[in-house]
Amino acid sequence: MCGIVGAIAERNVVPILLEGLRRLEYRGYDSAGLVVVEEARLKRLRSTGRVAELMQISANTEGSLGIAHTRWATHGIPSERNAHPHISRNLIAVVHNGIIENYESLRARLVKAGYEFSSDTDTEVIAHLVHSHYAGGMPLMKAVQSSLTELVGAYAIGVIAADNPDQLVCARRGSPLLLGVGIGENFIASDVSALLPVTNKVIYLEEGDLVEISREGYLVYDAEGKEAARPVQTSEISNESVQLGNYRHYMQKEIHEQPEAIANTLETACNSHSIMPGIFGAEADSCLAKVDGILILACGTSYHAGMVARYWLEEIAGMHCTVEIASEYRYRKSVPNPNALVVVLSQSGETADTQAALSHAKLLGHVHTLAICNVPESALVRQSKLRFLTRAGPEIGVASTKAFTTQLVAMFLLTLVLAKQRNRLNAESEQQHLHALRHLPAAVQKVLDLEPKIAKLAERFASKHHALFLGRGMHYPIALEGALKLKEISYIHAEAYPAGELKHGPLALVDKEMPVISVAPNDALLEKLKSNLHEVRARGGELYVFADADTHMNEEDGVHIMRMPEHAGYLSPVLHTIPLQLLAYYVALQKGTDVDKPRNLAKSVTVE
Ligand code: M6R
Repeated sequence: MCGIVGAIAERNVVPILLEGLRRLEYRGYDSAGLVVVEEARLKRLRSTGRVAELMQISANTEGSLGIAHTRWATHGIPSERNAHPHISRNLIAVVHNGIIENYESLRARLVKAGYEFSSDTDTEVIAHLVHSHYAGGMPLMKAVQSSLTELVGAYAIGVIAADNPDQLVCARRGSPLLLGVGIGENFIASDVSALLPVTNKVIYLEEGDLVEISREGYLVYDAEGKEAARPVQTSEISNESVQLGNYRHYMQKEIHEQPEAIANTLETACNSHSIMPGIFGAEADSCLAKVDGILILACGTSYHAGMVARYWLEEIAGMHCTVEIASEYRYRKSVPNPNALVVVLSQSGETADTQAALSHAKLLGHVHTLAICNVPESALVRQSKLRFLTRAGPEIGVASTKAFTTQLVAMFLLTLVLAKQRNRLNAESEQQHLHALRHLPAAVQKVLDLEPKIAKLAERFASKHHALFLGRGMHYPIALEGALKLKEISYIHAEAYPAGELKHGPLALVDKEMPVISVAPNDALLEKLKSNLHEVRARGGELYVFADADTHMNEEDGVHIMRMPEHAGYLSPVLHTIPLQLLAYYVALQKGTDVDKPRNLAKSVTVE
């Protein structure tokens, strides 16, 4: 949450900061601001609107050193006074991503020392702390270093001083930050996508790193304050992959990128004739052989992917599996099984609750850990023993789409590896699964071809205030995911239930105003599901059924059938996700909401 960009160059950095912010806006969009050093003074511009508004008011601002920020409000309402950068006595400017937990005591102390606060944020204490040390004669880097020792919480920060036009200082602990390396110019950002127009050479900073940056170079100090060498990496993310292209929204683009994202994720695994544990890391073979259960920890959409995986892991690999919402697990007094494999599932790899859940699991004695993640070098990837990178490419729309389907693919691969190790997968079944996986991108593409029909269907939802999603078995989490997508971007209240639960309560909600969306694959539970749907119809509920090609269900009054092109067996949840993503997208279009940046949300939830 929150995006940071900073630049020190020979040229005017304002366009670089603004373009960086535009690309980071998905991380938070409650307000935006920047500050540059202009003739030994700090010139700050802030807007409570989007980055586009900041761009409009920045026309006459120039400077070769600056920092910028796009905010997702935690402390203090979204307002101009709470927008970053925060400034202390016109000398020190700070941008911050994270939460300073002890800010109240620091604030009280700084007020006593004569500092005046002009915001309600936790961040402002950092600006005044740095000022107190800097004004006392410390060099900027030392002033920041001393200030950091007093902070409790998570931070990624960028700091500049009005009288020091040749230096930018940054630091990170608990929140992501990277360094972009240019020629005669250097940059900082929360995410590499912000810097791609200026450089693809990046240094992923480690926990506790502090960096002193000039135009010509940089010095990294590690958590112990010692000079540290950090490798410069070339980002594989192309500039084009973060552009909207011909699509109307990133979400639409990302929905359509799913065949390619799945193919890329499967590439290494499916290029050989058999599934090898090595795709989860060098130590995977021995580590996975030792585990006797699975504990999946995740949030939101990633949690739904974990829920689907539970069905696969128990049925195909015969492994006991628990799936927990990370924010619950981290505070629950659970009974650990140290022989279980802890799988953290996350698109961003920086979700605070999932990170805390992983740390909690380690504290409880878990040693076998696997991160399934879409962002290389992210915190979760670095903190796990095993890793699998989904290769979905950057996901910018706040509503997760291609990250989810590639997570499902990764979890299916894990299931096959575990099943094979436990002699539950013979060579013939392995080849069948591999064949199904190789065919998956084409099968997803066929579902995407339903788009015009789903767009038409969506028109019927625009006036609705509630919706009910039903699924059974491994498609119940898909119903949950469909409901999450709909509420997230269209603001229609949506609930999902396992269809068998209907008559235990939610059926009371059903009347002709309640659309009931059902995921109806042709599987062992189909006949039971059909009975549940009759119960809805008998109460006047309008049914929207996503049925497989070979599901014998017919359109009739109040029953709308959307026929899926094919049935994908175990991989059916992947296919059935697509129409629900499209439905949510087109309902949101009907309602005119901000599809890529829905209200109150942000892409990476890096605070608790
Ligand atoms: O980056 P993560 O996968 O850890 O994020 C978890 C959730 O915050 C995320 O999936 C969220 O639920 C999405 N906005 C849903 O579309």
